[in-house]
Amino acid sequence: MDYKKIVAQRIKQLVEIDIETIEGLIEIPPRPEMGEFAFPCFQLAKTMRKSPNMIAKDLKEKIEKDGFEKIECYGPYLNFFLDKGVFIKNTIEKILQDGDSYGSSKIGDGKNIVVEYSSPNIAKPFHVGHLFTTVIGNSLYKILSFEGYNCTGINHLGDWGTQFGKLIYAYKNWVDEEALASEPIKELLRIYVKFHAEAEIDPTLNDEAKMYFKKLEDGCEEEVKLWTKFRDLSLVEFKKLYKILNVKFDSYAGESFYCDKMDAIIKDIDQKGLLVESNGAKVVMLDDYNMPPCIIKKSDGATIYATRDLAAATYRKKTYDFYKNIYVVGKDQSLHFNQVFTTLKLMGNKWADDCVHVAFGTVRFADKKLSTRKGDVIFLDDLLNQAVAKTLEIINEKNPELKNKDEVAKKVGIGAIIFTYLKNHRERDIIFNWDEMLSFEGETGPYVQYTYARAKSILRKVEENSNKNDVKLDYNKLNSSEEFELVKQLEGFKKSIMYAIEKLEPSMVTRYVIDVAKAFNKFYNQYNIANLEDESNKKAKIKMVKATCQVIKNALNLIGIEVVDRM
Ligand code: ARG
Repeated sequence: MDYKKIVAQRIKQLVEIDIETIEGLIEIPPRPEMGEFAFPCFQLAKTMRKSPNMIAKDLKEKIEKDGFEKIECYGPYLNFFLDKGVFIKNTIEKILQDGDSYGSSKIGDGKNIVVEYSSPNIAKPFHVGHLFTTVIGNSLYKILSFEGYNCTGINHLGDWGTQFGKLIYAYKNWVDEEALASEPIKELLRIYVKFHAEAEIDPTLNDEAKMYFKKLEDGCEEEVKLWTKFRDLSLVEFKKLYKILNVKFDSYAGESFYCDKMDAIIKDIDQKGLLVESNGAKVVMLDDYNMPPCIIKKSDGATIYATRDLAAATYRKKTYDFYKNIYVVGKDQSLHFNQVFTTLKLMGNKWADDCVHVAFGTVRFADKKLSTRKGDVIFLDDLLNQAVAKTLEIINEKNPELKNKDEVAKKVGIGAIIFTYLKNHRERDIIFNWDEMLSFEGETGPYVQYTYARAKSILRKVEENSNKNDVKLDYNKLNSSEEFELVKQLEGFKKSIMYAIEKLEPSMVTRYVIDVAKAFNKFYNQYNIANLEDESNKKAKIKMVKATCQVIKNALNLIGIEVVDRM
């Protein structure tokens, strides 16, 4: 039930402004003792030619009060107090009835949304930045699908480009086949890094690399075979990570997929009179938009990253007829996407406006900046393994008797990393700190998962000793402020999801689940539920605990984290 809407409708019956404006004006009072909603009357003062205080008073007299405990005016504000008993009962029963689908809707109306995420580069390690796009994209996919959008998840693999010329050269000269078989990405990275070091001494290596890439583009057998080998080896490794993270894609159409679709695009750009020569390259001028030109073909005739993105967007429109085409890519590529979207628009594609770059910040570990060129990287499998191992240590200390420790450590350790990524606004930079993110206290994944496990343990305890089945539960017993605050949080799930969709910002859901956990713990610390004498009260509290578990589970699921019943 949308109580804000109900408040707005009641006001609407008495005033001459439209309902959207009213909804926009409604505020949440700063303190719980001032009610749940407040409507400021300043704006009405102009048209009604009365003081805001007078208007608030009038409205208070005339407004329909059914369903509210009371409606009061505080100076120029009209404040609404929900009928707590009804609100608590309705909310808890709705959650328990909807179960895993609590919070979902059909708002998306089956509209098609393409979500591109992860998109690592073949033959290079999957780094912490790729993990960032992977978890944001996975979460957006889940959130949008939950609200009825029809999503297609695309992994736009970086599997084409001049770097493959370098890699072929490096492979032919320096590869250690044994190392390649056991740790493919590490070996490919080693020879790639070596190429850059050697090319600094002897720049003619770059010409060799260009020649090999040209051969690859022309479909020469040997080069294509090597490229396929690099791609296959890398994909095996990437898919291991996706399995650990529980992330899926509907398509792995990467850059190479557009090789044969670029000519048509280039021709189209040319026919529209947009293609110009610049220092031997073919470009689209974007001076009018204060941007450097979008390069379509380099002076040696090779196509580039942007050309493939133009082809990809066009292909996606044709194939998926998207309502939105979302790119989850680091904010250092903002200019690139701006150039691509503007070029698409200049080509006459109205749908260019439906393409969205969902940017995110950089990730650092202590003070190490991560770059592939110099080989100074943190490998993601190491990172995930460490998270799991460290979590296992903590569990061994806190709960040595736990049965399925490894499984729990996996869910909690990986969950801790995902949570750290999705906790703040995505454009904010992240600095990883083990102690902080693995702590069971504070705003962390383990804290929320631990809260869930604690709630589950209450349910187990009570179920074991429950024998008074004839006593009826009484929601009116949930009359403390902690309980009301908790149920208010539970009721706000949908709202947090709507913000997340509006801003394409999974952190709205992460923040939300932190607030739920905090509200639950305040309540939990107040009562010893299992030992309550009053059975009707105990039963009501148990329902609330169940509802809390359900909401935490649903919310964590939307950010790609699994719950554990014990930890
Ligand atoms: N492979 C690129 C990288 O690792 C990201 C690809 C982003 N997607 C795109 N359509 N350009 O930086």
